[in-house]
Amino acid sequence: MRMYDLITKKRNGDVLSDEEIKFMIESYVSGEIPDYQMSAMLMAIYFKGMNDHETAVLTNAMAHSGDMVDLSGIEGIKVDKHSTGGVGDKTTLVIAPIVAACGGKVAKMSGRGLGHTGGTIDKMESIPNLKTSLEREEFFKIVNELGVSVIGQSGNLAPADKKLYALRDVTATVDSIPLIAASIMSKKLAAGSDAILLDVKTGSGAFMKTLEDSILLAEKMVAIGEHQNRRTVALITDMDIPLGNGIGNSLEVKEAAATLKGHGPEDLTEVCLQLASNMLYLCNKGTLEECMELAKDSIKSGAAYEKLKAMLKAQGGDEKIVDDLDLLPSAPYSYDVKAEVEGYITHINTEECGIASTSLGAGRETKDSVIDYSAGIILKNKIGSYVKKGDVLATLYASKEELFENANKMILDAYQIGDTKSEDKPLIFARVG
Ligand code: URA
Repeated sequence: MRMYDLITKKRNGDVLSDEEIKFMIESYVSGEIPDYQMSAMLMAIYFKGMNDHETAVLTNAMAHSGDMVDLSGIEGIKVDKHSTGGVGDKTTLVIAPIVAACGGKVAKMSGRGLGHTGGTIDKMESIPNLKTSLEREEFFKIVNELGVSVIGQSGNLAPADKKLYALRDVTATVDSIPLIAASIMSKKLAAGSDAILLDVKTGSGAFMKTLEDSILLAEKMVAIGEHQNRRTVALITDMDIPLGNGIGNSLEVKEAAATLKGHGPEDLTEVCLQLASNMLYLCNKGTLEECMELAKDSIKSGAAYEKLKAMLKAQGGDEKIVDDLDLLPSAPYSYDVKAEVEGYITHINTEECGIASTSLGAGRETKDSVIDYSAGIILKNKIGSYVKKGDVLATLYASKEELFENANKMILDAYQIGDTKSEDKPLIFARVG
């Protein structure tokens, strides 16, 4: 079999056979197929798509490219969660501790930033000394003792996805439904949890820009999960504007902590409560309404915030900083983006905000870029606010002042200001599963 022929086949819109998909994944992981050929294949898939059967075979081949984790050493129902990626999406840092505080078990493997979106592991690594790579025994011990641990994908968990994810990030092939479904579900299947909650983002800041595509992606992933005997539910949540106010790694960790202390932004709090209660539901902790009450109580009592601190400490995070996450280093420079006209904020282009944050140093421009953890953006005004000329829309943070000019322009372009207040939109559009 030759990769050249498979690229040609997919480029022409034909269906790849099970053997061809398995060959492609195995040979790519072993290094026999080079990045440039796989890049061409990804672009062909991006344009020509994959049918449900091809996607399922791709998912399985990717899941089995490394270890299939056995979590049976952890008692109880293990529930996982995955977001399709967004801007300002720090939900894992909020909901994993909530679920653990309510008796659920979260043994979670998270990812890094991709494209214009951030990743939980990059955010966690803004905490000095914190380990996001643990030996399996230590990971299990922490989950058994605390109910929660969040680590990066281990070298051998779906290694095919690790290689493909990095390649897609720099070849403009991220936002393809079969590639996203296979990427997410391969990791979820390999990670071994009994139940999976999918947070499918929709809108200008998501890989899926339309509700229709988001529902399609959700249905594809729920079907793959259920087919493999994992209870799977998806929520379609809004990513038409950034979630919460902070974009950028340490800024988001601080905001997650504030949310667990009960004074986070309203939108972030609401989405986190919905996600957490669905995870608790998947853990058989009661009806959805009862699970919502449990989640709210865990914030009120401080139990969820204590869980976050305990987890970060157990993973080696600097104790002084974990005790007061506001001590996380701040960027040396800041810059206020000011409104140039008066009116209501009617829209914020979220992808532009993510790209602006990356340009300030918070994300990777190339596979090997080094992240500036303190860089990013705090949105000071969001949709519905009335601003006067000169009011601050957002504050930019960076380690080099020369980065502000371009990011300022991007944020001004991202904000639309008009005469009429736009109608409130739901934060949760649909539930699939
Ligand atoms: N998140 C993933 O894990 N994979 C994707 O392809 C997109 C978002």
